Amino acid sequence: MEHSDAAPHRNDAAPHPTDTTPHPTDAAPHLTDPHPSGDDAARYWDSMYARRPAPTDPRPNTRLVEAVTPLPPGDALDLGCGGGGDALWLADRGWRVTALDVSAVATSRLARQAHARGLGDRVTATPQDIRAALPDLRFDLVNAHYFHTPYEQDRTAVLRSAAELLRPGGRLLVVDHGSTAPWSWNQDPDVRYPTPREVVAPLRLSPTQWRVERADMPHRIAVGPDGRTAEVIDHVLLVRRIA
Ligand SMILES: C[S@@+](CC[C@H](N)C(=O)[O-])C[C@H]1O[C@@H](n2cnc3c(N)ncnc32)[C@H](O)[C@@H]1O
Repeated sequence: MEHSDAAPHRNDAAPHPTDTTPHPTDAAPHLTDPHPSGDDAARYWDSMYARRPAPTDPRPNTRLVEAVTPLPPGDALDLGCGGGGDALWLADRGWRVTALDVSAVATSRLARQAHARGLGDRVTATPQDIRAALPDLRFDLVNAHYFHTPYEQDRTAVLRSAAELLRPGGRLLVVDHGSTAPWSWNQDPDVRYPTPREVVAPLRLSPTQWRVERADMPHRIAVGPDGRTAEVIDHVLLVRRIA
């Protein structure tokens, strides 16, 4: 289990997207199994998304914009795409995006948004339990943004498999929460956020094949679903496949 954010320092140059991810505190469906099946995970997230109206203008995450703005477009895999702000932003910049999420509510909303913006040919949004399978395709970017869940799952295995899909020169971007935002679903005072170094270590990426380009914990001002702002911390890991 992990979560959202607060603290000093900010990145005023980057956008401050409204946090439109669902928050399990609003009467979340009860998950009895700490290791739910794909169907149960899908039911859980479908219900979370269905409780909130589809965002009319999903915004990209700040750290995605920072990391990807200098890169030429290519093929991107968005893991746990959620509201779709990242996928739409990437597609708008010319990337071809494969967006996966266990929630069909989320992926169908994203597909509709992509179509409405004339980006339908650049976004493939598919409901998929990414623990079970990833597409047999090659990518220049794997984006895993706030891939946090109220149940346990082997994120390392998913990230490791996704990293293997990168072409030489491609990048894996993993952004986790580093602090608990006041509107976060997880207000557990004992929650501990893995640092970027703790995320990368178990991936066991050979230094002859991979280079860590960024592993830091920057702060920013975030806007919650109710318009409140708070300073939050992100844990940012950017790894490049060099061979
Ligand atoms: C906290 S949200 C983050 C969404 C989005 N990436 C963002 O930055 O707002 C986590 C997302 O992961 C998805 N997810 C959780 N477990 C999954 C799984 N096993 N397979 C695919 N998607 C999953 C959820 O449906 C949810 O959309």
